[in-house]
Amino acid sequence: MDGLINSAIRPCETQLLLFTTSILFAYITTLSTAQVLQRGFKATPNPKVSTFQPLLNDSTGNFSLAFLRVNKTQLALAVLHVPSSEPLWLANPTELASWSDHTQLFFNGSLVISDPHSRVFWSTRTNGDLVTLLNSSNLQIQKKLDQAASSVLWQSFDFPTDTLVENQNFTASQSLISQNGLYSMRLGSNFIGLYANFQEKYDDQIYWKHRALEAKAEIVEGQGPIYVRVNSDGYLGMYQKGSIPVDVEPFNSFQRPIDGFLRLRLEPDGDLKGYYWEGSSWILNYQAISDPCELPSPCGPYGLCMPGSGCSCLDNRTEFRSDVECAPVETGDFCGEKVMKDNFKVLTRSGVELPYKELMQYETASSLEQCQGLCDNNCSCWGAVYNNASRFCYLLDYPIQTLVAVGDESKVGYFKVREGAGKRRKRNVGVAVVYAVVGGVIAVFIGLIGFWTYRTWIRRKRTREEEGEFSPGPYKNLGSASFKSIEMSSSSR
Ligand SMILES: *[C@@H]1O[C@H](CO)[C@@H](O)[C@H](O)[C@H]1NC(C)=O
Ligand SMILES: *[C@@H]1O[C@H](CO)[C@@H](O)[C@H](O)[C@H]1NC(C)=O
Ligand SMILES: *[C@@H]1O[C@H](CO)[C@@H](O)[C@H](O)[C@H]1NC(C)=O
Ligand SMILES: *[C@@H]1O[C@H](CO)[C@@H](O)[C@H](O)[C@H]1NC(C)=O
Ligand SMILES: *[C@@H]1O[C@H](CO)[C@@H](O)[C@H](O)[C@H]1NC(C)=O
Ligand SMILES: *[C@@H]1O[C@H](CO)[C@@H](O)[C@H](O)[C@H]1NC(C)=O
Ligand SMILES: *[C@@H]1O[C@H](CO)[C@@H](O)[C@H](O)[C@H]1NC(C)=O
Repeated sequence: MDGLINSAIRPCETQLLLFTTSILFAYITTLSTAQVLQRGFKATPNPKVSTFQPLLNDSTGNFSLAFLRVNKTQLALAVLHVPSSEPLWLANPTELASWSDHTQLFFNGSLVISDPHSRVFWSTRTNGDLVTLLNSSNLQIQKKLDQAASSVLWQSFDFPTDTLVENQNFTASQSLISQNGLYSMRLGSNFIGLYANFQEKYDDQIYWKHRALEAKAEIVEGQGPIYVRVNSDGYLGMYQKGSIPVDVEPFNSFQRPIDGFLRLRLEPDGDLKGYYWEGSSWILNYQAISDPCELPSPCGPYGLCMPGSGCSCLDNRTEFRSDVECAPVETGDFCGEKVMKDNFKVLTRSGVELPYKELMQYETASSLEQCQGLCDNNCSCWGAVYNNASRFCYLLDYPIQTLVAVGDESKVGYFKVREGAGKRRKRNVGVAVVYAVVGGVIAVFIGLIGFWTYRTWIRRKRTREEEGEFSPGPYKNLGSASFKSIEMSSSSR
């Protein structure tokens, strides 16, 4: 008898409890999250938030404009993919504000991040009426024309950071820049290029080039610049005029019906990768450079990449360590009185080759000695690589990066190494963001579970009431995504 009563009552109690908890969570998650920001909007970062603080959502709830905590103490204004906490766009990637109550985001016609005590970090410099986040993840500032119509004054799609999302046009006047600032993607007249900037104030070195095939349409001179777009059908399309692509760079999912949101990111290692959202995680869908030794600097400065067996150092007396550079790299070249001649030693190594030599300029030299001489006497030269068979002499005008080990001992490298300077730790940008993201997922998890429970409760209620359709919703997947992240973060401790 007792058991019977209990089992009849328990579901109701559970539901009530779940409902109350989820109302609370739904309230907390939506409290600060509007769908449109009007003039007069103001927000400051909440000191209790350790990951990200949503400010504006799109209509699906998949995307959010948020304060993103970076390196524990800094703040970036970001558009995030909420289920994965993956930042798709940053307002101020090079000048982060601090996560303190001095920092303010406001909308007065311009969207502005400022610290009234010091300065304006970032501003859209517009005179708009509202801010909205489209379901494509495009953040827009619009001017109202009348009740129904509005014009777009500014949009985040025009200022990409390191990511392109599905249907976002990327033009010749834009660039993607990797999070660590080392690599960029730009368009040429008929190609997509990836460039490395190993030395400030020097020209970038191209390390990957994808030329348009022009199979279905040709690039016509004088018809305007090309642009590219990640197409929902699973390819990176290059276009000039009209809708017929001049080039199709297929992703793995090309011509396979997948229903996942696509994004393309210029990674901190210089690779260009495509992903799709499978409901609980991002699946790798495209990789411009799949052989790690073909990346611009997989083993860091003065490193040597051995195909299939990892990294070592160009100097065989130095042991490779993942956290310390093989040899010191300072900014500047060997010009100027202080660093002339005596201040560097020379390292030679045979059986080495440049990873992207096809894209490099070269001189012809009749001997190894002549090739070395071209570099030795030139203070802006960091090194030379000579191919005895072709007589090509490649001169490096940037600090030596990773070379590729080859069996052919007649390919010889000559490298200048700074004397005296101590070894430096490798740049490790990105780790902080990873921490932030992992932490973010945990916070999102709590909110989403609440929201999911609430949705399920509402649905069950509705289904019971109407005996109507029950469509499988996304929130189950979101829940499982978060579980994975929890496992990940607890196992990393
Ligand atoms: C909005 O605020 C910024 C920063 O204080 C200021 O420079 C700008 O003139 C303001 N814009 C308008 C339309 O008031
Ligand atoms: C996104 O918005 C567009 C235009 O407002 C609409 O046609 C489309 O159905 C929306 N997509 C989703 C997934 O909500
Ligand atoms: C991208 O460019 C195409 C062709 O110019 C245009 O039709 C489309 O609206 C653009 N998309 C966005 C998001 O601006
Ligand atoms: C966005 O939300 C819709 C429904 O709300 C879901 O079907 C879709 O998978 C989500 N997309 C992404 C990219 O999370
Ligand atoms: C290191 O390289 C030098 C010059 O190529 C060679 O003479 C020497 O035997 C090598 N040492 C080791 C430990 O491999
Ligand atoms: C020195 O090397 C740089 C880079 O390789 C090159 O641009 C420059 O012309 C060279 N200068 C001389 C005098 O050879
Ligand atoms: C370089 O090439 C020359 C002529 O082709 C040849 O005589 C010489 O042995 C080669 N040197 C090496 C180290 O392979």
